[in-house]
Amino acid sequence: MSWQMLLLWLVIMTLPKPAPCEDDDTVSIGGRFHHETSFGDDGLKGENAVFGERVPLYKEYEGAKKTKLSLIARDKSRTDEIIERRRSTRVFSGQTLGLDYLARVLLSGNGVTHSKGAYEMRSAPSAGALYPIDIYVIAYRVDSLEKGLYHFQVQDSSLALIKAGDFNEDIYRACNNQKTVGFSPATLILTARFDRSTIKYADRGYRYCYMESGAIAENVHIQAEALGLGTVIVGAFNDDAVSGLLDVDGVSEAPTIIMPLGWPR
Ligand SMILES: Cc1cc2nc3c(=O)[nH]c(=O)nc-3n(C[C@H](O)[C@H](O)[C@H](O)COP(=O)(O)O)c2cc1C
Repeated sequence: MSWQMLLLWLVIMTLPKPAPCEDDDTVSIGGRFHHETSFGDDGLKGENAVFGERVPLYKEYEGAKKTKLSLIARDKSRTDEIIERRRSTRVFSGQTLGLDYLARVLLSGNGVTHSKGAYEMRSAPSAGALYPIDIYVIAYRVDSLEKGLYHFQVQDSSLALIKAGDFNEDIYRACNNQKTVGFSPATLILTARFDRSTIKYADRGYRYCYMESGAIAENVHIQAEALGLGTVIVGAFNDDAVSGLLDVDGVSEAPTIIMPLGWPR
């Protein structure tokens, strides 16, 4: 390679690279939709995003005949109580989290519960049993667990250490400095590996990924409540910052939900 070519190559390499999807007509509608609804440093990335008008919280059908639902004998089962007790927890005590508690929450969130033929089925439903959602854990104060970033390995119910260290400040900053995040003994980060779903459902698979993240998050919420723990679904985060922390590309795999987990104060 001549020095001129080398110089040109160096200049090209240092040019700012466009974010994935920008000015790229080959990106699918699902990929574009995900990109334009991502948060960057200056808020929503999509320039054409519009806010809706305020609409009433409850829908009424004037004049419609209504049948009152009588409160039949209330189910006093534990599930009923747990669901009623569930609240978002935003302030955590300094108490450490037992590894067995974290394990219970992860397994209830998205662990294998049974098999169907050759398929291993999980605690949360998944379109086509394709399971596009992964869970990462930032462990900060978890008994017998080194501080670091872990990946929940569903296949053998284990936590794989991706990198050791204290990432609480990073996740706090990546969640737009929300005091809710970064002060809990553990933080769960759900990501969607979109391709696992779009291979069967094309771009509709994006929708399924968001739906499935919600199903897993609710499992986590309910199990946390049952154990006396607290959590909250955090949807406001800087997409690129969280992807960077997890070392995922933010396009084929991207964060969908963040859930700090710990003992409520
Ligand atoms: C999609 C979604 C995104 C949310 N994002 C945040 C968030 O970024 N920060 C936060 O403190 N709470 C967040 N929440 C929690 C809601 O504020 C909370 O669920 C709501 O106020 C109802 O309160 P409850 O969960 O205690 O019933 C989010 C909830 C959902 C479902």
